[in-house]
Amino acid sequence: NKNILQDSHGRQHTYLRISLIERCNLRCSYCMPEEGVQLSPKSHLMSYEEIYDIAKTFVKHGVTKIRLTGGEPLIRKDIPIILEKLATLPVELSITSNAVIIDKFIQILKLNGVQKINVSLDSLDREKFKQITRRDEFQKVHDNILLLVKEGFTVKVNAVLMKGFNDNEIIDFINFTKDLPISVRFIEFMPFDGNKWDISKMVSYKEIMDKVNEVFTDDNVERLQDAPNDTSKNYKIKGHKGSFAIISTVTNPFCDSCNRLRLTANGQLKNCLFSSKESDLLSVLRSGKSIESVIQKAVEAKLKVRGGMDTLEKLKEPKLHSNNRSMITIGG
Ligand code: GTP
Ligand code: 5AD
Ligand code: SF4
Repeated sequence: NKNILQDSHGRQHTYLRISLIERCNLRCSYCMPEEGVQLSPKSHLMSYEEIYDIAKTFVKHGVTKIRLTGGEPLIRKDIPIILEKLATLPVELSITSNAVIIDKFIQILKLNGVQKINVSLDSLDREKFKQITRRDEFQKVHDNILLLVKEGFTVKVNAVLMKGFNDNEIIDFINFTKDLPISVRFIEFMPFDGNKWDISKMVSYKEIMDKVNEVFTDDNVERLQDAPNDTSKNYKIKGHKGSFAIISTVTNPFCDSCNRLRLTANGQLKNCLFSSKESDLLSVLRSGKSIESVIQKAVEAKLKVRGGMDTLEKLKEPKLHSNNRSMITIGG
C-alpha cells in the first residue's frame, strides 16, 4: 500500500514545482527560441482555483514544498490570490523569478510566508545581460537582489554558464558573494526544445572547479554540506558571507535523490524535467473526476535518470529532447 507519490525506484516525491504562466518579461536564449513559443489558449491554463485544488491533492499525499515558476511567475495578474491560496496549505512556499519587478511584491511575498527566492541572473555585465535576455534590465535585477537580501529573504542566484559567453565571469560571481549572503549557483547548460543546445557550449562542473582553483587555493575552498535532495553541490570561499554551488545535470546527474514533480501552466504533470510524456491533470479535474489515479500512474512511470536519457550519448541525441517542451513552459 505505497504512497501514490512514490515511484517504482523508491523515490518519494515531496516537492512540487508549479509553472504559473508560459510568458516572460525577458527572452533568454537558453530558455526559449527567438520566435517565441506557441502559447496555450487561455481556456487551457489553470485558474487559481484549479492550481489550488491540484496542489491540495499533492499536499494530501505528502508534498511539503511548492516552488512557483514560469515563464516569469510574477507577471501573472492573479499572483497575489495564488500566493494567498497556497499559503493556506502546510508547505514551504518559494518562487523562482527573474526579479525584474519583484520590488513591487515584497510585502505580498512576506505576508504569504515566502522566505526563499531564487533569482536568474547570468551576467554581471550590463551589455551581456542585454545580449542574453534581449532586454536592458540588468540594473533592476541587480538592485532587486540587494533589496531582497536587505528585506531578509534567503536568495539564490542561478547563472547558466555558456562557453565563451559568461564563463569568464565565474570569479566575478564568486566575488559577488564576498559581502553578500547569497548562494550563486552555476548551472550546466541543458538541452530543451528550441534552445540550440550543444554540448560544446556547456561549461562542466569540472571546468568550473578548475577555474575556481586557479584563483582560490584548496584550503580556501570549503565543501559545504548539501541540503537533502539538493540540486547543487555547495561550496564556500573562506571569509565570504555567501557561497557558491554547481548544478551538474549534464555531467553528474543527481536523479537518485530526486524528489520533484512538475505541473505546467496548462495543467500537465511532468514526472521529470526531461520527460516528454505528460499527464493531463487539468482535463481530468475539469471532468469532475479524481486526479489521484492519474498522478499515481504518472509517478509510477518515472524513469530512473533524466527521463530515460541516462547516458551522455542519449542526452546528445537531438530527437530525444525535441519531444520535450521549451524551458520557458517547464519552469526549470
Ligand atoms: P531549491 O528549491 O532552492 O533547491 O531550488 P531548485 O534548484 O530546485 O530550483 P530552481 O528553480 O532555482 O532551479 C535551478 C536549476 O536547477 C534550474 O536549471 C533547474 O532546471 C534545475 N533543476 C531544478 N530542479 C531540478 C531537477 O529536479 N532536476 C534537474 N535535473 N534539474 C533541476
Ligand atoms: N539549462 C540550464 N538551466 C536553465 N534554466 C533555464 N533554462 C536552462 C537551461 N537550458 C534555469 C534558469 C532559471 C531556472 C529556473 O532554470 O537559470 O533560473
Ligand atoms: Fe529528477 Fe528528472 Fe531532474 Fe533527474 S533529471 S533529478 S529524475 S527531474
